[in-house]
Amino acid sequence: MTASPASPSENAAATSAAPPPGCPAHQGARPLSGPGFQTNPFGVYGEMRGEHGPVAPVLLDGDIPGWLVLGYRELHQVTSDAELFTRDANQWNQWANIPENWPLAPMISRDQTSVVYATGEDHQRRAEAIAEALVTVDPYELRRHAEHIGDGLVDEFCHQGEAELIADYARLLPQLVLARIYGIPDGEGPALVQATNDAVDGTGNPVEAYQYVYRVMNQLASAKRKEPAPDVASRLVAAYQGYPDELVVHDLIVIMTAGHQPTADWIGNTLRLLLTDERFALSLSGGRHSVGQAMNEVLWEDTPVANLAARWATRDTTLAEKHIRKGDLLILGFHGANTDPLIRPDTHAFTEGNNAFLSFGHGEHRCPHPAQEIAETIAKTAVEVLLDRLPDVRLAVSRDTLLWRPSAWVRGLSALPVTFSPAPRGGR
Ligand code: HEM
Repeated sequence: MTASPASPSENAAATSAAPPPGCPAHQGARPLSGPGFQTNPFGVYGEMRGEHGPVAPVLLDGDIPGWLVLGYRELHQVTSDAELFTRDANQWNQWANIPENWPLAPMISRDQTSVVYATGEDHQRRAEAIAEALVTVDPYELRRHAEHIGDGLVDEFCHQGEAELIADYARLLPQLVLARIYGIPDGEGPALVQATNDAVDGTGNPVEAYQYVYRVMNQLASAKRKEPAPDVASRLVAAYQGYPDELVVHDLIVIMTAGHQPTADWIGNTLRLLLTDERFALSLSGGRHSVGQAMNEVLWEDTPVANLAARWATRDTTLAEKHIRKGDLLILGFHGANTDPLIRPDTHAFTEGNNAFLSFGHGEHRCPHPAQEIAETIAKTAVEVLLDRLPDVRLAVSRDTLLWRPSAWVRGLSALPVTFSPAPRGGR
């Protein structure tokens, strides 16, 4: 789950005092940004662990202090205790220091009303409604949609003998599939994908892109209210009776975005692993088993949601010997926790069959179970379709030149150029 597309936000007013300058708890705090998170995240997390232990002081954009929870046990503890570590952004003790147009406002803001910021009974009701709407998705039908859409995307480039699999495949497929299960007419899919990617990445005109996504979802909600159909949007609209229409639209957008971006990165990171890691090379042509194995390994090693904002302490407490003050912000360090040497002393060992990663979160706000299954079906089908259609696909550049997107929050490639023997369209 990632930042929702940038909705307008205001972060000006104060709630309580900031930590005093030179606060001892934040000595040695590192910026939660910079190239190290792309080029050598294991090194960066290792250094933080060495210096501070499993809970490290960090600085967000504008030198705003926070804590990165990068120990597996500590992340489990934080995500398990929604009373002590809340999702309610109003609790933050730093609002007085947040400038207007803060770059992280789309991710951390007080005026977001979506399910990811909801708490207590309200959250429970909405999370249940979302899970119930998603659980009705038929996995066989979902796989058929994903195959059909994957084949259509491969048809666009298979005759060329080369492609860039992030832009031309991974970053398109999940949302096109999700649009189908939402009940969005097929013709609207491509424009919606473009707008969602622009809104999330801040490319093109992100504000206009967000407005476009909002319009499509608003129209969708109205249409499904008038004429319900057997799709996710209709079920959600029905389950949200009594909530303001706008709130349904926000949650439809969040579910779509939360589903699209990490699934796209799961596909891209899995393809990268299959194409670059010699442990998979032998079995790549040999069968499907290795795809599931690579997907599992990606969740441990290069999980798409690397770090996520946020939780806030509702009272003074201690976590891994750090004094956490009421209102302090904690970043969920999924990448760090999954690679915590205390639980994974040997990161070269196959992770096969071990699903104890925290990649989908944990506790009340974890990724809903049916959403995890949807993500897995879409990602697995996407990778399998590509390998079926282009059996000799190989990397077009050296593995060392592949670039990760410049962000400490997400773990996904900027590009994955490949070559292959040109293949006919519609060739399965
Ligand atoms: C590889 C794919 C995915 C990953 C790695 C992922 C990861 C996550 C994580 C880490 C959270 C927890 C946030 C927290 O604790 O604050 C989350 C929440 C969520 N995810 Fe996913 N997710 C994925 C796919 C999906 C899909 C396909 C959907 C929907 C179709 C989805 C819908 C949601 C929703 C609605 C939430 C918010 C739950 C709440 O706050 O109650 N996710 N996801």
